[in-house]
Amino acid sequence: MSFNLFRPSFGTYPHLLVGRDELLDEFEDTFDGILDPAGLTILLSGQRGMGKTVLLDSYRRAAESAGWLVITESSSSGLLDRLTRDHLPRLLQRYSDKPPTRLDSVNAALGPVGGGGSWTGRYPAESTLRSQITELTDALQPSGRGLVISIDEVQAADIEDLRKVGEIIQYGRREERLLAFAAAGLSTPIEELLDHPGATFLRRAEHHPIGRVSRADVRAALAGTIADSGHEIEARALDLAADAIDGYPFMIQLVGYHSLKAHRTSAPVSVDDVDAGVKAARRRLGRHIHTPALRPLSSVDRTYLLAMAQDDEGPSRTAKIAERMGVDPTYAGQYRRRLIRDGIIEPAGHGLVRFTIPYTAEHLREHAAHDALEGLSEDER
Ligand SMILES: Nc1ncnc2c1ncn2[C@@H]1O[C@H](COP(=O)(O)OP(=O)(O)OP(=O)(O)O)[C@@H](O)[C@H]1O
Ligand SMILES: [Mg+2]
Repeated sequence: MSFNLFRPSFGTYPHLLVGRDELLDEFEDTFDGILDPAGLTILLSGQRGMGKTVLLDSYRRAAESAGWLVITESSSSGLLDRLTRDHLPRLLQRYSDKPPTRLDSVNAALGPVGGGGSWTGRYPAESTLRSQITELTDALQPSGRGLVISIDEVQAADIEDLRKVGEIIQYGRREERLLAFAAAGLSTPIEELLDHPGATFLRRAEHHPIGRVSRADVRAALAGTIADSGHEIEARALDLAADAIDGYPFMIQLVGYHSLKAHRTSAPVSVDDVDAGVKAARRRLGRHIHTPALRPLSSVDRTYLLAMAQDDEGPSRTAKIAERMGVDPTYAGQYRRRLIRDGIIEPAGHGLVRFTIPYTAEHLREHAAHDALEGLSEDER
């Protein structure tokens, strides 16, 4: 029997998760007996497709296997409301001995009844959240278990909601409650969020930037997933795939998936299969990663990137980029810093930078040619 065990879609746990062993060990240690409170507030940041959501899921798994309860949320408006009206009442109902929390106040005039009471309506969401979390963590504490609040795409959260949640996490920390907070989001907006006065507690979180994985890890993920799918791969084909993937986790799944899809015989996966797989993978990468990542950039940012994209192979010299742009290096340096902060490019040794995500240069070149043609046809109209 043969299958295709690659998972080329966002947020889907891969068949083999590679290159994150250290972090996974840390997650397990956090919930294992002696608690190091540092690991109880974590922030994962990185570019699209680096595997942040998947790691948030690993954190959840580590917590759950130690018996903790996990609330998983993806930030969109109404975060606080969903916590106080949906997640927490549901968990309290199940885990707290106190009279069950009622979702709605049947008779508002009666107000809270018993310890659980009717939280909604009468109190500001903030104090409701604190009381609910206090009650739930109190109920869990005797069995050595706690509560994790996990928020993906945290850059999209309402800053006020985040500030309130943060305050309660800090109270929890002071009271030594078994309470953890894990968040993940895109590099740039996270940097901006960290500057915001409402997100002080996030600045104290253990911040893990999530980047590429090593070539050895890429090869292990490919070979292992292909073997478990009931196939083999030629050594040269494996090298070709690892070259194309260039350490980028999403690309492991894309190239693996499309190479297996192109493979139609019972012989090992060949160089031709991988060639076809890489082409299909690159088309999807352009659509799902490059286009959205480059869209918000200014035209000077793009000029900087296009000057970089002239180097076919490997990193670009910052002095050379400034020369190509026809500006002085100090001016170009401002754009370099911003693009690094945005996670589009990264330092690659003294005076060198490179693109964070594979095929950004090719994408830019193809689109610059395309845009130039579009411009031309508009001028002719
Ligand atoms: N370490 C890894 N090893 C193998 N595959 C991985 C790894 N990390 C992520 N992947 C795969 O890459 C893809 C993207 O992962 P994920 O959705 O976690 O990225 P993300 O950083 O959350 O992206 P986004 O910012 O767009 O939400 C998924 O298909 C996932 O299975
Ligand atoms: Mg994600």
